[in-house]
Amino acid sequence: MSEQTLIVSTQSHDYPIFIQSSADKVDLVSRLVPFIKGTQVLIVSNETVAPLYLSELTQGLKSHGFMVHDCVLPDGEQFKNQHSITAIYDALLERHFARDCTLIALGGGVIGDMVGFAAASFMRGVNFIQVPTTLLAQVDSSVGGKTGINHPRGKNMIGAFWQPQCVLADMATFRTLPDREFAAGMAEVIKYALIMDDEFLAWLEDNAEAIRAKDGAVLGQMVYRCCAYKAQIVAADERESGVRALLNFGHTFGHVIETHQGYGNWLHGEAVAVGMVQAALMSAKLGLIDHADVVRIKRILTLFNLPTVAPAIDTQTALGLMGHDKKVQQGKIRLVLLKAIGKAFVTADFELSALEEVLAETA
Ligand SMILES: NC(=O)c1ccc[n+]([C@@H]2O[C@H](COP(=O)([O-])OP(=O)(O)OC[C@H]3O[C@@H](n4cnc5c(N)ncnc54)[C@H](O)[C@@H]3O)[C@@H](O)[C@H]2O)c1
Repeated sequence: MSEQTLIVSTQSHDYPIFIQSSADKVDLVSRLVPFIKGTQVLIVSNETVAPLYLSELTQGLKSHGFMVHDCVLPDGEQFKNQHSITAIYDALLERHFARDCTLIALGGGVIGDMVGFAAASFMRGVNFIQVPTTLLAQVDSSVGGKTGINHPRGKNMIGAFWQPQCVLADMATFRTLPDREFAAGMAEVIKYALIMDDEFLAWLEDNAEAIRAKDGAVLGQMVYRCCAYKAQIVAADERESGVRALLNFGHTFGHVIETHQGYGNWLHGEAVAVGMVQAALMSAKLGLIDHADVVRIKRILTLFNLPTVAPAIDTQTALGLMGHDKKVQQGKIRLVLLKAIGKAFVTADFELSALEEVLAETA
């Protein structure tokens, strides 16, 4: 199957994710046309992705009669800030964009989050479309409507829930994606299997070779399944008051690594990979899963070139970075753990000593 479509249901509207896996493409741009409001389109990308994909998208849209402009931002998480949002607003206002316009995010999660937020706030909300070009953005950040930017005092602190009109995920974009970024995206893929579906873990193990070889058909199936898991969670809990918290599996532990090592030194997905090992070890320590499950989790992460061992971080420092002060909040930290592979839950019901042991063992 060269193209699959998945419908995401949200409170504001339902929208399709088009997953394109064949090399001999249908006209991808024509997929977007019905979802473009008005005639003015602003494509926002960055200095790395724009030279690869901007011209094809621009020409395609122009051939359908749209007035297309672009805004190319510097590349990097450090530019996910108010300055970039202002640059997007400037591009829109200089060209007299009206409310009846469409923004297109062409890039990874950084671009997607920023463009979504610019669309949510420009003239109190305009249309936007996601064209995610990293694995992480295709399986995670482009689905679910969380948009935003960083503040000097915290990551993703300013934002809005704003759903796109549609998402176009093309497996061909992985051909130019650096291996390390692809691996980081695989951490989120493996996360879905661990929290939601043990059969999907077996599927990933069986298809590891094809995935690593970037087989378009297999990648298409993989991305489709991940988007379906995320869509299922988002439909149940759009504003993150309950089940959506399960998506944080491995993230509380991973956050310690990212913060301690300085953002950018470890990719988010790499920190999450180690965090999932730590969460699995914690689950085993509490007698919820077998040690053999932990070994299996480490094996699949290694298969996709992800780390499984944390950098050396003093245990009390790690607890502090988990947002936990041992003296005042004994045992109150909440973790996503596993009852089994494919079944996650949130709990604060554990001894702090067990957590300390896990942190000491994995560093
Ligand atoms: N909104 C959400 O629900 C959500 C969920 C998870 C993560 N996020 C956010 O996503 C961001 C991380 O996203 P990311 O991992 O995609 O990082 P990213 O957007 O920084 O992309 C990673 C790197 O790959 C480059 N790149 C992108 N596509 C490429 C391609 N096809 N070929 C070559 N290079 C390419 C980028 O320019 C960048 O250098 C973070 O800011 C995080 O907060 C948001």
